[in-house]
Amino acid sequence: MAASTKYFFSASSESEPTTMRYPLIPVLLLAVLLLSFGWYQGNFQNLLRHFLHTCLAPNTNLLLNESTLPPKTELQVEVDAIFDNIEKLIPNVSFTFFNQTTNGKNSKISIVNPRETYCVGDDFVVQVDMFDHLGNRKTYGGDFLRPRLVSAALGASVSGTVEDLKNGSYHVHFPFYWAGKVNVNILLFYPSEGVAALWRSRHSSQGVIGFEGKYEKFGAEAITKCAFRLSEEDGKEICEYKDPLYEEVFHCYKVPNFTCESLNEMRGYDLQMSYLTPVEQQIFQRSNIGVQLPQISPIMVAQCNTTFNDPKPKCQPGMSSPVPSGYYYNQIWSPLYCNMTVYTTAENFTNCLQGKKLFLIGDSTLRQFIMHFTEGIKIVKYFRYHYKGWAGWSWTLEAMNMEKDIYVSYKRHGFPLEHSAFYYVKEDLYTSRQIDQRGGGKDTIFIITMGQHFRQFPLKIFIQRAINIRKALERLFLRSPATKVIIKTENTRETFAPAERRGDFHGYTQYLVLKEVFQGINVGFVDAWDMTVASATASVHPPGYTFANILSLSFTFAC
Ligand SMILES: *[C@@H]1O[C@H](CO)[C@@H](O)[C@H](O)[C@H]1NC(C)=O
Ligand SMILES: *[C@@H]1O[C@H](CO)[C@@H](O)[C@H](O)[C@H]1NC(C)=O
Ligand SMILES: *[C@@H]1O[C@H](CO)[C@@H](O)[C@H](O)[C@H]1NC(C)=O
Ligand SMILES: *[C@@H]1O[C@H](CO)[C@@H](O)[C@H](O)[C@H]1NC(C)=O
Ligand SMILES: *[C@@H]1O[C@H](CO)[C@@H](O)[C@H](O)[C@H]1NC(C)=O
Ligand SMILES: *[C@@H]1O[C@H](CO)[C@@H](O)[C@H](O)[C@H]1NC(C)=O
Ligand SMILES: *[C@@H]1O[C@H](CO)[C@@H](O)[C@H](O)[C@H]1NC(C)=O
Ligand SMILES: *[C@@H]1O[C@H](CO)[C@@H](O)[C@H](O)[C@H]1NC(C)=O
Repeated sequence: MAASTKYFFSASSESEPTTMRYPLIPVLLLAVLLLSFGWYQGNFQNLLRHFLHTCLAPNTNLLLNESTLPPKTELQVEVDAIFDNIEKLIPNVSFTFFNQTTNGKNSKISIVNPRETYCVGDDFVVQVDMFDHLGNRKTYGGDFLRPRLVSAALGASVSGTVEDLKNGSYHVHFPFYWAGKVNVNILLFYPSEGVAALWRSRHSSQGVIGFEGKYEKFGAEAITKCAFRLSEEDGKEICEYKDPLYEEVFHCYKVPNFTCESLNEMRGYDLQMSYLTPVEQQIFQRSNIGVQLPQISPIMVAQCNTTFNDPKPKCQPGMSSPVPSGYYYNQIWSPLYCNMTVYTTAENFTNCLQGKKLFLIGDSTLRQFIMHFTEGIKIVKYFRYHYKGWAGWSWTLEAMNMEKDIYVSYKRHGFPLEHSAFYYVKEDLYTSRQIDQRGGGKDTIFIITMGQHFRQFPLKIFIQRAINIRKALERLFLRSPATKVIIKTENTRETFAPAERRGDFHGYTQYLVLKEVFQGINVGFVDAWDMTVASATASVHPPGYTFANILSLSFTFAC
């Protein structure tokens, strides 16, 4: 497969087959033969790749059989396996009327094994029994709950873990990590019927965001439709933008008089499509999202004889992150499995980053990092950027500190990106490619995130990206094992974000994907999902102490 690694982002239309770049003469002959059958380029390339894989014993019958689909690639098999695991968690429910769906306000909450006194370290279990709007007990599970334990006066909070008993009842587990008066707070984020509908909707199309590409040539411009896949339309040629190594691809309709290479800018726009039925849409009205379940009286937790002062190792890459992954106390995050260093001052971060190169790859939740370094604690200065805040949404940003030899860059993860203004597309390489371009080493730090720009598309697209990033990291660690890599999961966002397009259930499934894909590899795992559930930020750009702790945990791993 060496031939396919040599080029990337190759643009080709059907009139300029990329196959011509394969150097092997027999392959060329075969290509001409196969093209004469009028085959589609996509199929053709897959088959050709299969052929190259198995070129020691090519089976030409197989290649020429039009009814044989190309076999799944290894990558597709991996993607499907993870997808199937997640699909198993999705409730399979159907309903006719809105009044049959779970109503959080009607639910009943009780304490399993109530006691007179509670101690730090106890496993505290709350039972939730769900009812529909008519007061009938629910008989199946799948509701998307968001539980937390809060002591506001202590700046303390932690998420709970939900055990679905699959019959309309749930056990929510809250270990007690601190002494004091604690409040139990459980939200019914979406009812199970909504979860099922969102999963179906997400997989009913290629996505709810459309794309337009801008072709430019000698000053002339033309705009055309782009997508992961495009249907054949009469008289229209299709340009394929393919990364053969990572099997990533998107397409645009070719514009007459422009070449595929002249695709320069891209924009995403809301297709205004919904795959929800009217009765399903009722579930996603504001008053039905994030419904607070009935409260129980605050619990008094005593320290008793329990102490949590056992020394914990410093947070290091390669540690696996449990659920919950930590808790806040005094607004400081305490990971359960390691000791986090609190970085606050400019001096703290300068000491950490001196002599280092920091690559932030992902979305605006990492742009927050470079904004904090330039405009907040001012330890680096932007290079060629004279604005403030979010101006220049789509730009790659660089910032430096010449005295301390600190270099910081922020770059996005590449297609797809939801943004309604045209942005330059050529430099937005896939994250895996951005990793491949770096030598790494002990003074190189990568912080990687993705998620918010994938909620709008079928989950397999996200799974494949995650696996590809892992593959790129495995190679990075072979050549430069001392490179520091931090995976920051996506965080929760606004409760009323449009559920179908940006809602947190889509984000939650992606979070599960990252947890699975990045197990057993030498990365620091920053569970920003858990950190934002625990602090209930409900903001796509977590503010305040939540953001400060995300930074501290990231740089504890990095430094
Ligand atoms: C082509 O594929 C079909 C279905 O898989 C199979 O029945 C048929 O025998 C194949 N033909 C050849 C020539 O391999
Ligand atoms: C969902 O339930 C229906 C009816 O009970 C059944 O026909 C279908 O196969 C189920 N689907 C899955 C994915 O389990
Ligand atoms: C449930 O909602 C449907 C549709 O609005 C309505 O026809 C039905 O009477 C309702 N059921 C009850 C018991 O109110
Ligand atoms: C629900 O399932 C749990 C665990 O299997 C069981 O203990 C409980 O009695 C069930 N509740 C109802 C109402 O069936
Ligand atoms: C393409 O270029 C040719 C020759 O320059 C010109 O005649 C034709 O009008 C152009 N077509 C379009 C769609 O611009
Ligand atoms: C705490 O420990 C002390 C001494 O080890 C013991 O006497 C006391 O009973 C313990 N208290 C509780 C509540 O377990
Ligand atoms: C965490 O590290 C700090 C600084 O090294 C140390 O003082 C503290 O005792 C450690 N805490 C735990 C729980 O290991
Ligand atoms: C952070 O900076 C403050 C003041 O500059 C210092 O007291 C503290 O020890 C530093 N913490 C770390 C972890 O370096």
